[in-house]
Amino acid sequence: MFFGAGGAAALLLSGCADRQNTLAPHSSAARSITTLWWVMFIGSTIVVMVVSLLVVLAFLRRRGSLDHVEARGESPRARNAVLVSGALVPAVVLTILFVYVLTSVPATAEPKPKDAKLTIDVGGKQWFWTVRYPAQHVTTANELHIPVGVPVRVRVHTDDVIHSFWVPELNRKIDMIPGYDNSVLLEADRAGVYRGQCAEFCGLQHANMAFYVVAEPRAAFGRWVAREQRPPAAGAPGATLFTQVGCGGCHTIAGLSTGTVGPDLTHVGGRMTLAAGTIPQTRADLERWIGDPQHIKPGNKMPALHLTGSQIKRLAAYLESLR
Ligand code: CUA
Repeated sequence: MFFGAGGAAALLLSGCADRQNTLAPHSSAARSITTLWWVMFIGSTIVVMVVSLLVVLAFLRRRGSLDHVEARGESPRARNAVLVSGALVPAVVLTILFVYVLTSVPATAEPKPKDAKLTIDVGGKQWFWTVRYPAQHVTTANELHIPVGVPVRVRVHTDDVIHSFWVPELNRKIDMIPGYDNSVLLEADRAGVYRGQCAEFCGLQHANMAFYVVAEPRAAFGRWVAREQRPPAAGAPGATLFTQVGCGGCHTIAGLSTGTVGPDLTHVGGRMTLAAGTIPQTRADLERWIGDPQHIKPGNKMPALHLTGSQIKRLAAYLESLR
């Protein structure tokens, strides 16, 4: 619904626009989580039904035939029924579920470096994501590209508070804890755009801390990497203004500025969204964002710079050209 032209095309091709459904798995790890969810759901439904039945039976007995039962003493059959349904059934069901959970854990375990063909470093910041491909020397933000069918190790860290990296259709969530690196495996079994979300409350804009994982065929992924590795053309119109008004103090554009307070903007024009999935990445939205970022995402670290209309237009045109 709210993407740039490239993003919209990718979403249409993928047929899974803006979805984030834990019950629609697209990797073997996510499939094992979904199966576990159904097994737990059915198992707990059985326990709830048995316990509810016992409660109803207990009420019926108290109301109807209590005197009669007391007169002839507790029947052994009734006592056995209570034992079986109240203790044995829950114990058996819970034991089966427990063992099943243990067998599902390895499917989502932390990947070993040797098991992965590609490593991506993702950092959590209030409230966006830094993304780095160390071997490819690619730095971006709020959008991961991965090749389809290739095990990708995502190593996560945080620069401030605890966040949680979660792409429900690809794997479980993994916490981003200060001073400790965690990792999770992403291996999409088909091309598509998968929405991810911060899953740990991390402040005012926690809900607006989203990202997208673009899984694409290897050739397309290779082209994306090559594009990301190319620094933007020097001397582009708008580049001077970008540094003059101070944007470079917070944002990196390769070859132009080195700020790290906000997201890397080297190829921001090629991304689908702005402000970590808050608004689409279009020229009009870029202008809106530069003009009044606090109105769109209150509390984020980007101030309104009180620029003139023409300055905003020139900056937006420049940023959009960074693809
Ligand atoms: Cu980051 Cu919630």
